[in-house]
Amino acid sequence: MSQYSEEIERRRTFAIISHPDAGKTTLTEKLLLFGGAIHVAGAVKSNKIKKTATSDWMEIEKQRGISVATSVMAFDYSGHKINILDTPGHQDFAEDTFRTLTAVDSVIIVIDTAKGVEAQTRKLMEVCRMRKTPVIVFVNKMDRDGKDPFDLLDEIEEELHINVRPLSWPIDMGQRFRGVYNIYEQKLNLYTPSKQYVTENVEFKDINSPELENYIDAGQAEKLRSDIELIEGVYPEFDVDTYLKGDIAPVFFGSALNNFGVKELLDCFINIAPSPRPVSAVERVVDPEEDAFSGFVFKIHANMDPNHRSCIAFVKICSGRFERNANYKHVRFGKMMRFSSPTAFMAQKKEVVDEAFAGDIIGLPDTGNFKIGDTLTSGEELHFKGLPSFSPEMFKYIENADPMKAKQLNKGIEQLMDEGVAQLFTNQFNGRKIIGTVGQLQFEVIQYRLLHEYGAQCKWEPISLYKACWIESDNTAALENFKRRKAQYMALDKEGRDVYLADSGYVLMMAQQDFPDIKFHFTSEF
Ligand code: G4P
Repeated sequence: MSQYSEEIERRRTFAIISHPDAGKTTLTEKLLLFGGAIHVAGAVKSNKIKKTATSDWMEIEKQRGISVATSVMAFDYSGHKINILDTPGHQDFAEDTFRTLTAVDSVIIVIDTAKGVEAQTRKLMEVCRMRKTPVIVFVNKMDRDGKDPFDLLDEIEEELHINVRPLSWPIDMGQRFRGVYNIYEQKLNLYTPSKQYVTENVEFKDINSPELENYIDAGQAEKLRSDIELIEGVYPEFDVDTYLKGDIAPVFFGSALNNFGVKELLDCFINIAPSPRPVSAVERVVDPEEDAFSGFVFKIHANMDPNHRSCIAFVKICSGRFERNANYKHVRFGKMMRFSSPTAFMAQKKEVVDEAFAGDIIGLPDTGNFKIGDTLTSGEELHFKGLPSFSPEMFKYIENADPMKAKQLNKGIEQLMDEGVAQLFTNQFNGRKIIGTVGQLQFEVIQYRLLHEYGAQCKWEPISLYKACWIESDNTAALENFKRRKAQYMALDKEGRDVYLADSGYVLMMAQQDFPDIKFHFTSEF
C-alpha cells in the first residue's frame, strides 16, 4: 500500500480497438457522454483518417491536429478515473496503435456484427495476446442484421485465438432487435431505437418466469431461454481472474449508435477491468503503487506549426505520482529535467496539471529530448521493456534530392524515426538508408514533413524486400558466417542491431533452413 493507493486503484486506462468502421468512434463518444465529459453526440471528432484510402496529406494534416486533443480522453465515472487512449484507425498507422497498446492496462475490442472479425482486429489482438492484455469484446450494430451470435462467438474464438464468455445476450437482431439479456447483472434491457440515452431496464433474475412474455413475444422468449441454457452449458462460468490473465474475453452485445448496451458495458468494465498493472523494466518489475515516480514515452506528437518544431511526448505513468516542476531523471541522458507545463487530457481539453498518478497519461512539451521508449524516473536507473518494432511491410531507399540540404535531411530523418513515424535501416554493405513502413501513406507523411519541417527534400527509390528480421545466435562463428554470406542484405536498425533484409519469402525460408543456428525474429524485442 502506498499513500497513492486510492488514487491509483480507481484508474482504468484502456484503448478501444477495431477494424475501421466497426464503431470505435461512436462507442468512445457514448462512453464520454456517460462520463458527462461531453454533452451532445457528435462532439467527438474522429481521429480516424477517413477510410477511402485517401492519400490527401493536407487532409491528414488537418485531422492530425484534431488527434492531439483526442489522443487521450479522461473522465470520471462512478468514482473511477477513466483514461481512454485513442488509436488511429488507418492501417498505415498500425505501428502507432501497437505502441499505444503498450500504455494501456486493458482493451475493448469492437466488432461489427455483420462483418465479424476483420483483418485489423486480428493484428491488434495479436499484440494484446503477446502482452496478455485483458480484453472485453463489444459486438456492435445489433440494430442491423448480422451473423448468428453463436457463430460469431465461434469465429472470435477461432480467429482471435481467445476464449470468450458472453455476459449479455441479444434478443433477435436488425429490425426485430428487442434488446439484450444482461447475464452479468441478470437484467433485461429493452431496446427502443433512439440516439438519445434511454434504455428500459428490468430486473430479471429468472428468465424462466412467464413474466418474460410480458416484455418480449413468445417466440423470442423461448429462443432466449434456450440460448441462455446453451450458454450456461457450453461456456465456462465467468471468472474475473481468468479475464485479468488475458485468457478469456467477456462479450457484450449492443448498438453504440443507439446508445444501447453501452452503459452495461461501462458498468461491468469499471468493476472488472484492471487498475494499473505492474510494468516490467529491464532491471526489475515496477509496481504502480511504489511511491517513487516512473514512466515511459510511448508516443510523440509533432507540432503542426513548422515554425515551432516542438512536440508533445506522451508519458504513461507506471508508478507513483508525477508532480509539476519536480526534478525527474531522463534515464537515457542520465540528467535531471523539470517540467513546468505538463498537460493532462480531460475529455477533449488539454490542460496544465500539477500532479498525475500511475495509470495516467501526461503530455510533456518537448523540443527533441525524447524518443519513443525513453524512461523518466525519480532517480532510479530503469529501462521499461515492451516497445517492440515489427517488421515493416514496405521498404524504399530514401535519397537526398537537394545536395545543399544533406544535413537537414539527416536530422529530419533521425527525428522522425525517434518519433516512431517509420523505421530506418542502414545497409551495412553500401551505407544506403532504407525506410520501412506499414503502408504507403507513411512515405508521403515523411516526404511532406521533411520538406515542411526541415526544409529537406527526399526522393524514394524502389527496393524489393519482403521482411526485415532481427537476427541473433549463441554461436558467434555461425552469426559471423551468416553476416558474411548475406553481406549485401545485412543492415543495422536505429539502435545498431543486426537486421537481415530478406527479399522474398522463399529466400527467407531457405536462409532459415541453411542456417539453423541463427534465430530470425520479426519483432525487435525477443
Ligand atoms: P470507427 O471509428 O470504428 O471507424 O467507426 P465509427 O464509429 O465511425 O462508425 C462507423 C459507421 O458505423 C458510422 O456510420 C456510424 O454511424 C455507424 N455505426 C456505429 N455504431 C452503429 C450501430 O450501433 N448501428 C448502426 N446501424 N450503425 C452504427 P457512417 O455513415 O460511416 O458515418 P457517419 O457519417 O454516421 O459518422
